Amino acid sequence: MRNILTVDGPSGVGKGTVARAVAQKMGWHLLDSGAIYRAFALAANSRGINTENEQALAKLAQELDLDFINDADNDLVSVYLDGKDVSNKIREEKTGDMASRVASIGVVREALLKRQRAFAREPGLVADGRDMGTKVFINAKHKVYLTASAEERASRRLKQLQQLGSEGIMSRILADVVARDERDSSREHSPLVPAKDALIIDTTDLSIDEVVTKVMTLVEA
Ligand code: C5P
Repeated sequence: MRNILTVDGPSGVGKGTVARAVAQKMGWHLLDSGAIYRAFALAANSRGINTENEQALAKLAQELDLDFINDADNDLVSVYLDGKDVSNKIREEKTGDMASRVASIGVVREALLKRQRAFAREPGLVADGRDMGTKVFINAKHKVYLTASAEERASRRLKQLQQLGSEGIMSRILADVVARDERDSSREHSPLVPAKDALIIDTTDLSIDEVVTKVMTLVEA
C-alpha cells in the first residue's frame, strides 16, 4: 500500500497533532509509533527487564499485549497494555525518557517493525515517529519532516503537560528535550534524520493550522 504519509521529527515538534489532523481530513488510519515505544518501555520496566538484557527485550517486543482503541469520532485513541488503559501513563516525561533508551536497541526496533507495518491499511495511513520515512515505510508516497527550535518544542511540551494536569519545569523540560534529541540523533539504529525525499518544514513560527495546510497541499497534490 503506497497511500502513506510519514511524519517524522524530534520530540515536541507537534507531529502527533499534525498527523491526527491530516488523518482525520483524509479519513486515513493513524500510527503513533512513539506510543508503541513508550508502552514497550513501560512493559519492560514493570517486568524489571533492564536495557542490557537484549534477548528478554526482543522476546517482550514480540509478545507485547498492546491495543489501540479509537473512540467513535476517531479523534481520541486509548492505549491498552496488558489489558490496562495506559493512555496517560505513556505520556509522562519519565516514560518518554525510558522509551528513548529502549528505542536505541537494534533488536527491539527490528522486533517492533512488523507491528508498525500492520497499521498500513486502506484507504491510507498517516505514520508519526522518527524513522517512518527512512525505515518503516521507506516507499511511502508522501514524507514530511517537521523541525522547530529546542526552546519552542520545550515550551509546547510544557503546555501539553499542563493540559494533562501535570506539572513541569521549563528548564528541566528543555534539558530533557536536548538530551533526547542527542540520543535519538546519534544512535546507531535508525537515527533521527530526514528522509532524502521528505519535505522539511520548520514549524518554529507556524501555527498548527499553517503546518496542516502545508502538509495537506503535499498529500493532495
Ligand atoms: O514521539 P514520542 O516522544 O512519543 O517517542 C518517544 C521516544 O520513542 C522518542 O524519544 C524516540 O526515542 C522513540 N521513538 C523512536 N522511533 C519512533 C518513535 C519513537 O525511536 N518511530
